[in-house]
Amino acid sequence: MLKAKIISTGSYVPSRRLTNGELEQMVDTSDKWIMERTGIRERRIAAEGENTSDLAYEAAVLALSRAGISASSLDIIIVATITGDMPIPATACFLQNRLNATQAAAFDINAACSGFLFGLSTANAYIKSGMYKRILLVGAEALSRFTDWEDRNTCVLFGDGAGAVILEAADGQSGILSVDIHSDGSYWELLNLPGGGSKYPPSEEAAANRLHYIKMKGNETFKVAVRTLEKLVIDALEKNGLKSSDIALLVPHQANLRIISATATRLGIGMDKVMVNLDKCGNTSAASIPIALDEAATSGRIKENDTIILEAFGGGLTWASAVIRW
Ligand code: UT7
Repeated sequence: MLKAKIISTGSYVPSRRLTNGELEQMVDTSDKWIMERTGIRERRIAAEGENTSDLAYEAAVLALSRAGISASSLDIIIVATITGDMPIPATACFLQNRLNATQAAAFDINAACSGFLFGLSTANAYIKSGMYKRILLVGAEALSRFTDWEDRNTCVLFGDGAGAVILEAADGQSGILSVDIHSDGSYWELLNLPGGGSKYPPSEEAAANRLHYIKMKGNETFKVAVRTLEKLVIDALEKNGLKSSDIALLVPHQANLRIISATATRLGIGMDKVMVNLDKCGNTSAASIPIALDEAATSGRIKENDTIILEAFGGGLTWASAVIRW
């Protein structure tokens, strides 16, 4: 049966590292608190003038060159982001232009931290239906531009970066086995960026009220995340007739080490089977899974025929999982 297969990956993070020690100088926090509560040691910050599409471009160029294909052969470009260059046009259009991917239709997806997996669901459906054959999917974020550097509840969490995959139609055993996406808008208040849309358009008042920064009720989000993710991954395994012991590697959204290890414990898998890089990157929202996936694939942690699980949870609220035979 026709499947969508990830034929290559790429990622890019900006060179500037922001350490917990530096954050101690900016807000009332400590390296100890951040490490114990999140597992984050440092995060990357985009340079002035380096925008989301620039991060996406670097990751995409790497994925294209590893696949040995040219951008002009792409049918579709999807960018999952909540921090696009501008409200209009889509960041995917900036990327399409820079890549000179003249044949590709390009659009963005907003599902916050689950955005990459919502994009994967879309790409999977396009390819399985036979509608399109070759898709570039990128998760890219410049969260630092929307981070309130005076709010210790959120500013210690986020980082910038991008990860990309190329998907193609394939006939064999390997490819995407399932992608499941979910939303519950009744929880919208737990995690949002209120300003800049039609509800609170840009204004001096909105700026004075700091509405253009990400707000999160961290502890409440944490509790829903742990509860939801445990069931999500077990459901994904069951759907494919798999057991926890079949998992070669779990690649979770990198929000909090405690959330990640709670999921691993519930599944009964060791942390040696879990990809973790949030210590170096922080929470990069839609970019976190493809960055971690690229690191796992290029460092030899994923081998051909391995069963890989991806899972994410984020604003919306949204959550999603994917099962892949590599
Ligand atoms: O990415 C998509 C979805 N997002 C998530 O999944 C994130 C989920 N949430 C979390 O990761 C965690 O809830 C946080 C890391 C954000 C917070 O950890 P927590 O264990 O839930 O802490 P808390 O919010 O309950 O705060 C505990 C205490 C509070 O002080 P009091 O009220 O006990 O005196 C906070 O004011 O820690 C305080 N606090 C801090 N202290 C030092 C909050 N942020 C900081 C900080 N440094 N940066």
